Amino acid sequence: MRLDKLIESRLQTTRKEMKRLFLMKRVRVDDIVEMNPQRNVDSQLHQIVVDGQQLFTEHVYYLLNKPKGAVTAKQDANCQTVLELIAEPDRRKELYPVGRLDRDTTGLLLLTDNGQLGYDLLQPKLKVQKTYRAIVNEEVIEEDVAAFAKGIVFHGGIICQPAELEIIAASPTASEVALTIQEGKFHQVKKMFLACGKKVVELERLTMGPLRLPPDLAQGTYRSLTQSELKQLKKYFR
Ligand code: URA
Repeated sequence: MRLDKLIESRLQTTRKEMKRLFLMKRVRVDDIVEMNPQRNVDSQLHQIVVDGQQLFTEHVYYLLNKPKGAVTAKQDANCQTVLELIAEPDRRKELYPVGRLDRDTTGLLLLTDNGQLGYDLLQPKLKVQKTYRAIVNEEVIEEDVAAFAKGIVFHGGIICQPAELEIIAASPTASEVALTIQEGKFHQVKKMFLACGKKVVELERLTMGPLRLPPDLAQGTYRSLTQSELKQLKKYFR
């Protein structure tokens, strides 16, 4: 949550009072004077003290194993949304999925009501890495690995950043691969393989930044981030 919004909501400050608090160096985060009113904070990670009073946020962070068929939208007239997989008591007004996965993609999806964090995690300049496991309908070969490392060019000319492709198993009719990318173009993984003349038939996201899909988290279920997972996201709070 933005520091100024937190102060405003907890202390009912006017704009003038807010300005003064910062100018008078009365706002401290982790015991250091904070001058940026727009700084993103969470009291689970930061100690926020204003005029000697500690302030608390109430954000939630859920790690969902998205099943096939659910859409990463807040609302959808025809399909189940990922938000509908969150139990009523855990839902928040501002809860939303960070980034999108196709309807037929499964795996790791972060949902939070900390809009600023979600926005920052998707900024291309932060190069947050995402790893996918994919089943491809043909034999993936070393030439593909080299092409991904060089930077795939989509049909239409869009150039992708270099990506790391690992062949786990390959046969003429199906291959299993792990692919790590650091951008999030629309249908990126599927289009990268299409550019090599191959089709992704199954796609699962395994990681996003420091987050890993827990092996024991069944599809369609979720849990809150652990304190240690949240701590690993701290560097993305700006
Ligand atoms: N790339 C895709 O093609 N689909 C996804 O769902 C995610 C990445």
